[in-house]
Amino acid sequence: MNAHRGWNFLMTPGPTNIPERIQAAMNRPALEYAGSEFEDLSKGVHEDMKKLFRTEGEVFFYSSNGHGAWEAALSNTLSPGDTVLVPGTGQFSMGWSALAESLGVKSIYLENDWRNSIDPGEVEQKLREDRGHKIKAVLMVHTDTASAITSDIPAIRKAMDSAKHPALLMVDTIASLVTTEYRMDEWGVDVSIAACQKGIMMPPGMSFTAANDKARKVGENARLGRNYWDWRTRRGEIHYTWYCGTGPINMIFGLREAVDMILEETLEGAATRHQRLADATRAAIGKWGEAGTIEMNAQVQEQAANGVTTILVDDSIDVNALQKLLREDFGVAIGHGLGALDGKAFRIGHMGYCNEPMILGALASIETAFKVLGIAHGQGGVMAAVESLAAAKS
Ligand SMILES: Cc1ncc(COP(=O)(O)O)c(C=O)c1O
Repeated sequence: MNAHRGWNFLMTPGPTNIPERIQAAMNRPALEYAGSEFEDLSKGVHEDMKKLFRTEGEVFFYSSNGHGAWEAALSNTLSPGDTVLVPGTGQFSMGWSALAESLGVKSIYLENDWRNSIDPGEVEQKLREDRGHKIKAVLMVHTDTASAITSDIPAIRKAMDSAKHPALLMVDTIASLVTTEYRMDEWGVDVSIAACQKGIMMPPGMSFTAANDKARKVGENARLGRNYWDWRTRRGEIHYTWYCGTGPINMIFGLREAVDMILEETLEGAATRHQRLADATRAAIGKWGEAGTIEMNAQVQEQAANGVTTILVDDSIDVNALQKLLREDFGVAIGHGLGALDGKAFRIGHMGYCNEPMILGALASIETAFKVLGIAHGQGGVMAAVESLAAAKS
């Protein structure tokens, strides 16, 4: 193992590298839960999280991973037998759809090839066909971390408006928040879902829903079972109910620091940095692909995600061997292909606490691993990334 010589690089698309500032902020004794120091801190972070979503709506915190926030969004707005429309984007749209069905909600799933973003025309057509307005929500994954495709939220909002359909628009921003431009209110999103272990740079363990007035009003009459997730009790007079029990105090210390770091960089700055790193990654893949063994999963450059890149490989490449060599010899963790892409792809995370030397180190390590393993690849991938980063700075 490489663990004792040099830094390990966590280049997976969640969890991601945790800044020293956040680690230090969390490394302190817990506070009295009912005391004013924690309450003030917690309320301040709740308020500032709105800035990340760019919303005037309410943000709700959960001690859970992203699956919890998926369930929170649905259980707060839907009733048994309701229907949702889930446009396919990859493994995570499938996961959210399956979760909805497990709660007793019917899901209309729009198949997609995982290589292209959601087709707004198809969404509009499905909504027009639903004359009785049985569909209560459109569940959209902004960036699907499996396919590394980002879909166009304003285009989906427009499709819903053109169809004059009243369904709620719910957006999973788990992989896109902070890495990519996101404007909840301006884009007409009713519910946003996020988790802390990607663009927010925290260790896994917290998730969020943000809900506008329309969603919270619909939620008053929702009849799916809910207790822990319930928006209605999470803004009570007594701060204890904001977490439905003991809050994750040290996570909140970390989150305060994370939000400060993000606001210091600015959301625009963070999105631009992620774009730069993504462009450099794509430049390397473009060169590697010249041997015909490797290609970008995204077929349209503009749809390729800012925070993660999925790279398809042909049968000559053993992804497990590549991952193992990178992990054990170089201390670089990359993601494997998920679901239908298992064994057929690998993924590079460039989200959260990540900069130019980190992405160059990761790309150079991958190129080195190609050579060690005798993987056929086009030459000059790392140099193409260097050129891309240099062009972005000049
Ligand atoms: C886009 C997206 N949605 C949902 C999830 C599920 O989140 P979690 O693994 O935190 O439950 C993930 C996890 O990677 C994700 O990338």
